[in-house]
Amino acid sequence: MADTRVSLSGWTLDNPVIPASGTFGYGLEFAELYDIDCLGTFSFKGTTLEPRFGNPTPRIAECPAGMLNSVGLQNPGVESVIAETLPALKKVFHKKVIANVSGFSVDEYAAVCARLDREEQVGLLEVNVSCPNVRHGGMSFGTTPEAAAEVTRAVKAVTRKPVYIKLSPNVTDIVAVAVACEKAGADGLSLINTLLGMRIDLRRRRPVIANTMGGLSGRAIFPVALRMVYQVYEAVDLPVMGMGGVASAEDVLEMMLAGATAVQIGAANLTDPYVCRDVVRDLPAVMEKYGVTNLTDMIGGAHHGQRRHHSL
Ligand code: SIN
Repeated sequence: MADTRVSLSGWTLDNPVIPASGTFGYGLEFAELYDIDCLGTFSFKGTTLEPRFGNPTPRIAECPAGMLNSVGLQNPGVESVIAETLPALKKVFHKKVIANVSGFSVDEYAAVCARLDREEQVGLLEVNVSCPNVRHGGMSFGTTPEAAAEVTRAVKAVTRKPVYIKLSPNVTDIVAVAVACEKAGADGLSLINTLLGMRIDLRRRRPVIANTMGGLSGRAIFPVALRMVYQVYEAVDLPVMGMGGVASAEDVLEMMLAGATAVQIGAANLTDPYVCRDVVRDLPAVMEKYGVTNLTDMIGGAHHGQRRHHSL
């Protein structure tokens, strides 16, 4: 029988399928559609210290094989998430959740993580240093190794939960940022966030998105994400959550062969809200098709032993 379990920093998931932050809210709407306990876990919407309304509209632009978003970290703020959202989630989701954290200063990242550290429902912290849609924060912390390391150190100092840093693809050398996070004490890495892009409305001769640019996600970015997971896996000794254009059980296996321990599904949730449930359902048959009995054996399988040996 297919064993779909994987382990992230000592946390065993029933399967590696994780809806990505920003595409699954705080899980509550999806719980009305299906039993979300079938998921490995999910990563909740990027949460900041204060509530945020996000960017002006339009915030979304369609693209061939993908979409642009410039949501701007809309969220109710960490206190509301803890007081209202997590208790509501506890009634419909009986696993720990990944808390995705964003910030506008190193101190803010640390303050939000310190607050979430006390929440038993939070299995790990995914620290988003890669949101391309806000000024003075988000991605600006993820585009140099030094800044990413500084956030990592600050967060690690205030929590005992595993800290995974979510990396930006909008850099020349993602490996340098990954290595800096590892040296600063990160427990794992998530990659990739969206690729900065834009569209222009031919009639108005203006950018489609009110904020001019947005982050590209969806099928178009899968090969880029896969390449970056492959490169980062070879360079660090940390578990990696791979994401970017994943939409099927076959994609999950491909991401794992590149080096992902778990796989997040993002944009696909927006066009098919049942996609994660269906990928979980399809995994055992696809494993059987490719002769896989234990999913953990797939991690990094495309590297022919080129990675430094590591234990997860
Ligand atoms: C957003 O809220 O703008 C998206 C978050 C992200 O891309 O990190």
